[in-house]
Amino acid sequence: MSQSSIVVLKLGSSVLPDATHFPAVVHEIYRHVRMGQRVIAVVSAVGGATNRMLADSRTVNDAPEPHALAELLGLGERESALLLALALERAGIPAVRLGPEAFGLVAVGDPLDSDPQAIDADALRAALAEHAVAVVPGFIALDAQGRSVLLGRGGSDLSALFIAAALGADCRLIKDVDGIYERDPAAAGVPPRRFTAISWHDALGVAGRLVQPKAIGFAAERRLAFDVAALGAAHATRVGAGPSTLLVHRPPGRRLRVALFGAGTVGYGVYRLLAAHPEHFEVVGVAVRGLDTPRPADLPRALLTDDPWALLARPADLVVELLGGEEPATALMARALEAGRDVVTANKPVVAEHGALLEALAARHGRRLAYSASVGGSLPAVELARAAAAAGQPRALEGVLNGTCNYILDRVAAGAAFADALAEAQRLGYAEADPAQDLSGDDAAAKLRILARAAFGAELGREAVRVAGIAGLDAVSIRAAAAGGVATRLVAGCRLGGNVLESEVGPRQVPASGALAQVRGEWNLLRIEFEDGTELVARGKGAGRWPTAEAVFADIMDAWRAAATAAAARDAATDVHEAPRRAVA
Ligand code: HSE
Repeated sequence: MSQSSIVVLKLGSSVLPDATHFPAVVHEIYRHVRMGQRVIAVVSAVGGATNRMLADSRTVNDAPEPHALAELLGLGERESALLLALALERAGIPAVRLGPEAFGLVAVGDPLDSDPQAIDADALRAALAEHAVAVVPGFIALDAQGRSVLLGRGGSDLSALFIAAALGADCRLIKDVDGIYERDPAAAGVPPRRFTAISWHDALGVAGRLVQPKAIGFAAERRLAFDVAALGAAHATRVGAGPSTLLVHRPPGRRLRVALFGAGTVGYGVYRLLAAHPEHFEVVGVAVRGLDTPRPADLPRALLTDDPWALLARPADLVVELLGGEEPATALMARALEAGRDVVTANKPVVAEHGALLEALAARHGRRLAYSASVGGSLPAVELARAAAAAGQPRALEGVLNGTCNYILDRVAAGAAFADALAEAQRLGYAEADPAQDLSGDDAAAKLRILARAAFGAELGREAVRVAGIAGLDAVSIRAAAAGGVATRLVAGCRLGGNVLESEVGPRQVPASGALAQVRGEWNLLRIEFEDGTELVARGKGAGRWPTAEAVFADIMDAWRAAATAAAARDAATDVHEAPRRAVA
């Protein structure tokens, strides 16, 4: 297996007008993480923060010492980096925060408009070996004396491009428009055309307000191609050697109509994420088991129905199934696929038991069935298993795949009673509706069967997995083992022996310093081993509202992109024009 590729995403003030926008940025980052990429997220201050601090500094001193001013203004970017790290933590995406001092970003020249000169690329690579995401404040650097300096207004673009150049990484500047246009698309008049590709030279002429000109100049000098794109978008403007090509403007496609089944721990989380994106989604209804159950105030009563079949009959493009349980979920999904809807589900027992059948049904009707959230919450487990199958010959996979058991084992090792630890896991929303499924190992076994299908193409029956749980374990021995540097973990794994896939779930004692022991609480880990001895590893939060909702939402965004791309493809062939060469002053 080759090393994961790195992408630098620059998330500017235009997509961070205030703190409520961080979850949308998390979705963009997670999109790349689940593709197996490592992400450096370079952030700007939230909209207006830099100007506010600049005005404050003028109030107290109209000729401030530049390094002190640089340090003050840089607080905006550091604040954003902290908020993004917190938002990633909620979603269960492993991230580390690194300031310019941690990766030796040194700049020279005017302290408020410096040029980056040196960087410790190995420090960034080392951080990404441990974490899927590194969050970096843009705009700021240090001078040779270690004092704070800035890279000029709009300087986070330059931070991102400089880091990408040092790592040989792709770079995507995320803006509040979906690329570079021939004129400001927000202005009145005939809608301008969007560039699909643009040369650095032409970009300097038209994009100077969208992308920092100094950053475009740096990219031109290094012959570094990069993308300018909107959050979540499939398309982008490629800035590079050119030639520049334009695409006729198309009004945005129709919103995706979503029928949501379930409004419990995960369902309500997914509702919130859908409702935060009215530009992409229209929720046509929410099926719940009981209309009288108390619900959060922001879940509109008018959307609720306790008749799932009536909801299925409403016009919709996408069915999101989060009811849990085998029926009516299985029948609903089958009917939805037959009726030409795409389906996203987190339903592990159904995917384990009937996944092959539902997939065949989806293929027959030309629809998509996605179930990333059925295994491991925001741990991109199904994605990793598929990537392993595509990459070559996996010979084994193993992991910590049940957050409830892992949480309980950690709490018990620290002195808690089994029953108290379970009650806590339930309160935190980690446990299944019937927690016996977690404790018996059956939940982890269902996940293992889904992963075995994805990685090995193996259809394992329930009886093909040897299963033991944690209910019978003795708290005293767990604590004694912990005191001796040995952790107890519920490990699920399968290994090819000849043509047989040996599959097992059970408690195991592992060295406290090893990777399996280091997965704490509700975190999950998956490790896939190849015939050549190399391996792929990923971590994520395996249970809880937001990590699971994140994975469901990622599948939903895939469906949205597929619909948008299909709509665009219908017109694109006739729309591409060579741009006239323009003179740049
Ligand atoms: N109950 C499961 C767990 C939740 O604890 O891991 C996600 O399947």
